[in-house]
Amino acid sequence: MSEVINKVLDLAKRRGIFWSSYEIYGGVAGFYDIGPIGVKIKNRIVELWRKYFIRDNNDLVVEIETPIIGPAKVFEASGHVESFTDPIVECKNCKRVYRADHLIEDTIKKSVEGLKPEDLTKIIRDNNIRCPSCGGELSEVRLFNLLFTTNIGPYTGNLGFLRPETAQGMFTAFKRVYETSRQRLPIGIAQIGRVARNEISPRQGLIRMREFTIMEVEFFIDPNDTDINNVPLHRFQDIKFNILTAVEKEKDGKPQEFKLEEAVREKIIIQPWMAYWMAVASNFVKALGINDFYFEEKLPYERAHYSKQTFDQIAIVNGIKVEISGHAYRGDYDLTRHMKFSGQDLTIFRKYDEPKIVKKKTLIINNVKLKEKELRKKVMELINNRSVEEVEQLIKNNVKIDDKPLSEFLSVVEREEKIHGEHFIPHVVEPSFGVERTLFLTVVNAYREKEGRVILSLPKYLAPYDIAVFPLLEKEELIKKSIEIRDTLSDRYDVLYDEVGSIGRRYARADEIGVPFAITVDPQTLVDNTVTIRDRDSWKQVRVKVNDLQISLEKLFRGEALNKIGIEVKDSNE
Ligand code: ATP
Ligand code: GLY
Repeated sequence: MSEVINKVLDLAKRRGIFWSSYEIYGGVAGFYDIGPIGVKIKNRIVELWRKYFIRDNNDLVVEIETPIIGPAKVFEASGHVESFTDPIVECKNCKRVYRADHLIEDTIKKSVEGLKPEDLTKIIRDNNIRCPSCGGELSEVRLFNLLFTTNIGPYTGNLGFLRPETAQGMFTAFKRVYETSRQRLPIGIAQIGRVARNEISPRQGLIRMREFTIMEVEFFIDPNDTDINNVPLHRFQDIKFNILTAVEKEKDGKPQEFKLEEAVREKIIIQPWMAYWMAVASNFVKALGINDFYFEEKLPYERAHYSKQTFDQIAIVNGIKVEISGHAYRGDYDLTRHMKFSGQDLTIFRKYDEPKIVKKKTLIINNVKLKEKELRKKVMELINNRSVEEVEQLIKNNVKIDDKPLSEFLSVVEREEKIHGEHFIPHVVEPSFGVERTLFLTVVNAYREKEGRVILSLPKYLAPYDIAVFPLLEKEELIKKSIEIRDTLSDRYDVLYDEVGSIGRRYARADEIGVPFAITVDPQTLVDNTVTIRDRDSWKQVRVKVNDLQISLEKLFRGEALNKIGIEVKDSNE
């Protein structure tokens, strides 16, 4: 674990951002509580995601909520019961269990994602990889299913699963949402909700948890609509992607820069709408303050069972590389499977611009000549399970029944029919973010040290509080004035108020949780009705009139420099 991560874990615990759940019982790996400060930052990240993925796309995307627990059938249909597995290996001596691919990768420093258990076993044997804990010999690699199981209701055998992604809720509700909203494609269905995965070796704080929150969009499209001009890529004129393509990856190459349109036209990204959502994801991740990232294409054997093409968005923060989002082109896999398992029609009707006239062959049965029961049975047996075309061929071949030609009983006529459209199964592209992992990377990315002190340099709109208000000293008049100021600001801003302890300690605490500005009421306030505003990152202070406070803060939140707001003062308060 990198040094910064350890420092962040320490800060998170100390300042109430997050910590191991069930601490009083020793904690359980992979489960984390999000603390008072963490929840505030997390909520702002979720709102930011809503803005980028839903509000800015209100013409296309709606949001729903569906249950965490689903009946077994849903996850049999989705393929998770069969395929949502990771490889594990057990130490024959101490019985510890490891995620086999990660153990190998840590040793040979090469990705082995998606390789079969027997291939992983071979690599372990060839490289003499042994138990990292006791040096014991390792077992054969086998697959472990990551679904958490439960029982629905009081009757045993009514198996349920905790969802490992929110996606299945959108697929099973697709028809209902379609009919109650746009009734047109494309349509996006978004969901933010808890999911559970029985990860084998959770590690590195919030990066790999066993229960976490996902924000994802299932975006349903007409696969015949391949005109890239129908995809509003122009919303992202200047976006360039760094993409590590599958081809480059196999050559151990590096990410290359592509313009958005170029990546689509050259079919680096095979579905234009996937490129659209990758552009949205780029802007969202930049808004988190993370500017260093690239998209890595998964190799065919690395992809999930449902995917035709997948890109992981890899963020690089403080030297660590972590997948922050996944982008999968799921094709018609999920809806096709749910149609099959539920027996319901989940198709959409595609209306033609103009009705089409098609010629259709119809079989005419001459019932008058087929009155006799035995004869009728013979004819019916002959044509049963044959297409009209096949029966027509039999007639042409002069096939006989009871010495009479088939043409006496059957004829085929061609008729014209007007068709107004056809049924089809929509395709789906899916951008998917983990909330806590995003929170963690945002915090690691914002972590700074200055003169031996910690500053959480979060983007202002992600800070847990917008402003801190402090009386310089615990004196009644200063407290009264401070509370007055807090109350006038709290309509508009999330305000942290604190009157206890030295002002230096209070500034330090505000810096550590990332509060962008601190307003301090001091004895001079009582004389000339001015206060100081202190900037979290530079620690500079200016003095402004209380009457101008609202306007000054507005300017600061718009990004205006502190020294344009008021007269700079020495930080005599510290
Ligand atoms: P990984 O390869 O890291 O196991 P994945 O490819 O299975 O992840 P997805 O199924 O694409 O991940 O999940 C979507 C997003 O959910 C990821 O990009 C990540 O942000 C988050 N995520 C996935 N697994 C976890 C986890 N165990 N803990 C926290 N967040 C996770
Ligand atoms: N989206 C990850 C999975 O459930 O396969």
